[in-house]
Amino acid sequence: MSHVAMEAEVQARAEHPRSPSTHEFEQVFHGLPQAEAQAPGRVNLLGEHTDYNDGFVLPVAIPQQTRVAMRRNGHSHFRLHAAELDSAVEFCLDERPTDQFATYVYGCLRLAQEDGAEIPPLDIHVASEVPMGVGLSSSAALEVATLRCLRALLDLPMDDVRIAQLAQQAEIQDAGVRCGIMDQMASSLAATDRALLLDTRSLERRMVALPPGSAVLVLDSGVARSLAASGYNQRRAECEQAARLLGVQSLREVEHLERIEALPDLPRRRARHVFTENARVLRAIECRDAHAFGELMNASHASLRDDYEVSTPELDLLVALLQRQPGVHGARLTGAGFGGACVALCRPEALQQVAQTVLQQYRDAGHRGRLLVPAVQQ
Ligand code: GLA
Repeated sequence: MSHVAMEAEVQARAEHPRSPSTHEFEQVFHGLPQAEAQAPGRVNLLGEHTDYNDGFVLPVAIPQQTRVAMRRNGHSHFRLHAAELDSAVEFCLDERPTDQFATYVYGCLRLAQEDGAEIPPLDIHVASEVPMGVGLSSSAALEVATLRCLRALLDLPMDDVRIAQLAQQAEIQDAGVRCGIMDQMASSLAATDRALLLDTRSLERRMVALPPGSAVLVLDSGVARSLAASGYNQRRAECEQAARLLGVQSLREVEHLERIEALPDLPRRRARHVFTENARVLRAIECRDAHAFGELMNASHASLRDDYEVSTPELDLLVALLQRQPGVHGARLTGAGFGGACVALCRPEALQQVAQTVLQQYRDAGHRGRLLVPAVQQ
């Protein structure tokens, strides 16, 4: 490096101190990244299993982020490094890597290329704080951070909605989950202090303040979401079947619950959850009262448990323990279900106490949970 270049770098480092991900990138790839970006996970307050039925959702971003750093590597292949991978993964865009974690990154690059970007082989480093496998959208955070980083590196003309759409396609086409668009839109557009009301049919959206006197608490049930992918795709197919029986394109189009009540048992219960859940989201955004909002969350849990059948005994217990606490306005499972996390709306001053008491009671019942939001400083 010339003297002038070195001075410029020293000056640049003084003005922009290195982020932890720059440092890690340097350690792995022995050089500086040319672009960096980050994206958060999300927790959904209301509107579960509605997005692939063209309905309404109400997520907030969580403080935990996934960071991606990249540089052109001048090789013929991509090199990906992440703590989540046993070793670095190398791949080309004409062949999907076998490692599940790498497929998310690969899928985003492949789809951006299909979308018209010319993508040179890259060194890529990923560092994530978003808890994995608990329903807080660690995969969406990885996809959105990857696409944001690629946009910064190559100056791509992609807006935040386009990023979410490509990220969703990566999840469907490369990771094999027929998900809706909530997680990727939330990671791309939501904030931590307000909820994102999203109409998943039109993608119209607006920020909605949380009811006064409320804060978000997320606890992990400690139950792995083993059936998540197969159970999720099955629920989606059941909704499509219900829509066919009702003669509509999507369950969003059904205007009267009476039509649903006339269906055979299984499609009736699946469609009733979607119908009532959409109504709960629309009522929640009008609620300026935290208690009323909490009641809607409690009703959502009951519907996910009884009609949609995506809860587990451990999630039901954790939710019941939360709902019993005086500082809690309402609680329910969050994300796809089949295990994973619960979300509660609490009085802000009660957060720590509620978390401690409920985790202790859950432990006394023989289970091991943990606090996910507010994020515990490592
Ligand atoms: C997963 C999917 C989302 C959504 C939720 C359930 O997180 O990725 O699209 O369907 O489950 O609400």
